[in-house]
Amino acid sequence: MPIGSITRGTTNTNRLRRVDRWIASLPALRQAAQPLVVDLGYGASGVTAFELQQRLARVRPDVEVVGLEISPERVSTARAQLAAVRAGTSGWGFAAEARVSFALGGFETPLPGGRGATVIRAFNVLRQYDEGEVPAAWQRMISRLDAGGTLVEGTCDEIGRVSSWVALGASGPTSFTLSLRLAELDRPSIVAERLPKVLIHRNVEGESIHSLLVALDRAWQHNAPLSVYGPRQRWVAAVGALAAEGWPVLGPAARWRLGELTLPWAAVAPRGFAWPA
Ligand SMILES: C[S@@+](CC[C@H](N)C(=O)[O-])C[C@H]1O[C@@H](n2cnc3c(N)ncnc32)[C@H](O)[C@@H]1O
Repeated sequence: MPIGSITRGTTNTNRLRRVDRWIASLPALRQAAQPLVVDLGYGASGVTAFELQQRLARVRPDVEVVGLEISPERVSTARAQLAAVRAGTSGWGFAAEARVSFALGGFETPLPGGRGATVIRAFNVLRQYDEGEVPAAWQRMISRLDAGGTLVEGTCDEIGRVSSWVALGASGPTSFTLSLRLAELDRPSIVAERLPKVLIHRNVEGESIHSLLVALDRAWQHNAPLSVYGPRQRWVAAVGALAAEGWPVLGPAARWRLGELTLPWAAVAPRGFAWPA
């Protein structure tokens, strides 16, 4: 039996573009001997798995994507979509020979021949579980990574303008990233509604994620006059201000221009968080 529970299958074309762009920059992917990427819990349609393969193939033309779903019905749907892609009748425009496949599976992350994964992207999956179930799910998935591999577990809104995720390696969580569409952004703390499960209930006084979002909103407001040069300039200045305050913001600064902010996991870990669980 696959490990986990069938949950709502909501998904959307282009919804995961922000996290996919970040995954495409990972050294683990770029340097892998044979990159194998898992889309765990792809939902009611396989479209985000095809998109993942298409985006990553720009940096690794040999990348292979395996979509795993705990719902047998959704595996059948995605396999029918794959047949249409192969036949050129899907209307989606994905390459007929795209290296994509779909299989039944849960957090145990079964892969052909017992291979390890270079990257596992689990998006909008743990959102529907309890916070207490997160560490065990993380542990199962990271045990299936190749040496140097990355689990990317996070959440986004329906149209992918607001997104955040935790990255994990074999020894646990390493970083936290938020990624926002900057045009018309009122307050960066909009991301509070789309935090990974491990953080979403921790946006309260006394928790680091709360302090971060307060500081980020303040820096964004303070740099409002830079809007005349565009929202990117404003964001870069706001992230620079956080760094100047002592937040251990990670670079390179070119990523900030994309509306991203990445910090080491330790900077946002919930109070009392212990790893291994
Ligand atoms: C909300 S959809 C997310 C779809 C897509 N990843 C996205 O972000 O648009 C969540 C999907 O995860 C699946 N799921 C839940 N737990 C799972 C598990 N342990 N292993 C594999 N799939 C799982 C559910 O069946 C559901 O189809």
